[in-house]
Amino acid sequence: MLKNILELRLLKKDNYLNSVNNLIFVLTLILLNVFLKSCNNSNSNTLYSPDNKIELNFEIINGEAYYSVKKENNSIVKTSKLGMVLEGEINIGEGLKILNKSINSSNTTWFPDFGEFDEIIDNYNSMSITLSNDDMSFNILFRVYDDGIAFKYYVPNQSAITNYNIINEYSEFNLNSDDTAWWIPGFSYRRYEFLYAESSIDQISKKYFSENVEDISYDTLGIDAAHTPLTIKKKNGYHISIHEANLINYSSMTLAPKGEGKLEVELYPWSDGITKVKLDNEIISPWRYVQIADNSSELLMSNIILNLNDDPDVNSDFSWVKPGKYMGVWWEMIGTNESTWWQSKYHGAKTDKVRYYLDFASKHNFDGLLVEGWNKGWYPEWCCRGDGIPFSFTETFDDFDIDFLSKYGDKRNISLIGHHETGGQIQSYENQMEDAFKMYNKYGIKNIKTGYVNDVSKNIKVYDENGEISKEWHHGQYMINHFQKVIDVAAKYKLMIKTHEPIKDTGLRRTFPNFISREGAKGQEFNGFSSNGVNHATDLPFTRLLSGPMDYTPGIFQLNNFRFTEPGSGLIDENAIIPSTIAKELALYVVYYSPMQMAADLPKHYMMHPEAFEFIKDVPVDWSDKVVLNSKISEYVTIARKDKNSENWFVGGITDENDRKFDIDLGFLEIDSTYNFKIFKDKPNTHWKDNPMDYEIEQFNLKIESDSSTEIYVAPGGGFAIQIEKI
Ligand code: NOJ
Ligand code: CA
Repeated sequence: MLKNILELRLLKKDNYLNSVNNLIFVLTLILLNVFLKSCNNSNSNTLYSPDNKIELNFEIINGEAYYSVKKENNSIVKTSKLGMVLEGEINIGEGLKILNKSINSSNTTWFPDFGEFDEIIDNYNSMSITLSNDDMSFNILFRVYDDGIAFKYYVPNQSAITNYNIINEYSEFNLNSDDTAWWIPGFSYRRYEFLYAESSIDQISKKYFSENVEDISYDTLGIDAAHTPLTIKKKNGYHISIHEANLINYSSMTLAPKGEGKLEVELYPWSDGITKVKLDNEIISPWRYVQIADNSSELLMSNIILNLNDDPDVNSDFSWVKPGKYMGVWWEMIGTNESTWWQSKYHGAKTDKVRYYLDFASKHNFDGLLVEGWNKGWYPEWCCRGDGIPFSFTETFDDFDIDFLSKYGDKRNISLIGHHETGGQIQSYENQMEDAFKMYNKYGIKNIKTGYVNDVSKNIKVYDENGEISKEWHHGQYMINHFQKVIDVAAKYKLMIKTHEPIKDTGLRRTFPNFISREGAKGQEFNGFSSNGVNHATDLPFTRLLSGPMDYTPGIFQLNNFRFTEPGSGLIDENAIIPSTIAKELALYVVYYSPMQMAADLPKHYMMHPEAFEFIKDVPVDWSDKVVLNSKISEYVTIARKDKNSENWFVGGITDENDRKFDIDLGFLEIDSTYNFKIFKDKPNTHWKDNPMDYEIEQFNLKIESDSSTEIYVAPGGGFAIQIEKI
């Protein structure tokens, strides 16, 4: 045992011999020895983060497994129970003894092909505990990083267990009643597409959500629980986010409040309402993790979710996966309401129209053009209950000439982006998937946007061979496996997938890079046909975006008088506004990371603001570094990112309904180097509601000194973007 701990210390990259003198090292060994003895005596099992600030303690109390977490001696997670019940009323969390314990450490650096950083340090200490009751045994694996803790269950195959189906996982996160949570409701009709509620942990409920955010009181199926990632600001000042990583062949987790600040894992059940996970043999749960940060800016810097996933299989090749920017025949349906997805006088996906977009987008160096409404199956009542005419994914409408358009695009160095709206009709999609992918291969299509609009709780219909229907949840194991199947089959055809109405990101993009981006929150589209309000944009970085890239679709420039009452009416819906400013729309390209980023507005609107459009053309989608310059959860945030392919930096800052004056510290730039700054910012009279499209550009050269900074005014609901070129 002592050997394990010594090994753990010596394995550390910045090991003690390097960083402190030998005397301290020897003292540490003595202390470790004392600690080890006390461990043995009290049956306490403690694991520290590499920087020694976070401490995880595991213990058995009355035969049950518990863990707790502290940072610098302050409580993060109070004593919380672990365990699960298998089918046949087998509670594997009772009558336990520790059979074995091994402690290890790992410190590696890996280099993502694309992403927010060019290198990621993966440094943690780990502890594997083997537990046994008299009949069976299983493992709980813990990891402690400098920025959080994680655990997972491993129940190996063994003769004592004849049925591995999980009826209940009851892992707990025991916090405090007065810790504040930013959350969206689980078990609710519109998946993750909700505004965020802010409340105490104990208040997480459909009732609270209905009274304070959006009425979902009629949606009575399922329990009160929050989706993850769940962001919490603790009373003691720590900022944490609870989420899961590596969600494969399992059900997705929500967190149910149990009173007095306690949250318990609640997995989405299968259609029977009882079984949570169906498994033929061994159980390997996803990681459950708690990101731990001293402040909101630190929360945005963690890579723990990627570190809890693996590199791609050594035999796989994902070199064909490339980040990019795209436009789309899309906003004119969902936003300006000028066109239809289905065939009509106003059909959006008409050959001539698409050709016009291809000309515009290729002239401005975009990589792809999304076309929605190209395939048979669209009709006015297509949405949103998972019923009706199933879509064809291989037959085009006759006014959309895919053969001509793909060749036309190819000559202009731009490819069509495919679209598969399934309407939640999974079997119909799976039956056509290979043929659809083959067809897209034939036309040089590299990216597919998929969609799963079915706005009813527990309404994914699955037909058995007798035509009997069972109804699954959108986030249960059936759908987890479906989303994975799409990614796996798409990889076979070298296709990148960007999913709308997806399963949440659990970091699998590291292993399967072709899952290039996804929606999974209320995105810009809601500003088109309803409204996200002015304060949603500043919630997302601290909530949904902690899990990974989002296809938010920024870049709307025509922020009012943009929407027609119906296609062909010629009448503007004056109530429709996008609660943003042009400068803020630019900022979102830096604040919201996505390797596949859209310029969502129409060519005619971009032509009215050519200089701002230049920023969208220039802003990278692949980065080597990131610095959070200021932030406060749900109020404001400013992020600087370094271009992967140059010495240039880009900065984006956004605010909620309040205007602010930011003093931007330029310390992230190289001292004594000179840079050209081009700042796109709100004017003093800009306002998200009354005057959203006014912005100004300031340009200057500056040689960076140790105290260099720049002041920027940000209007109510506004933002700013800076392009910084090294000269
Ligand atoms: C919802 C998606 O989020 C949106 O982008 C898409 O246009 C519609 N579904 C239709 O598929
Ligand atoms: Ca959506």
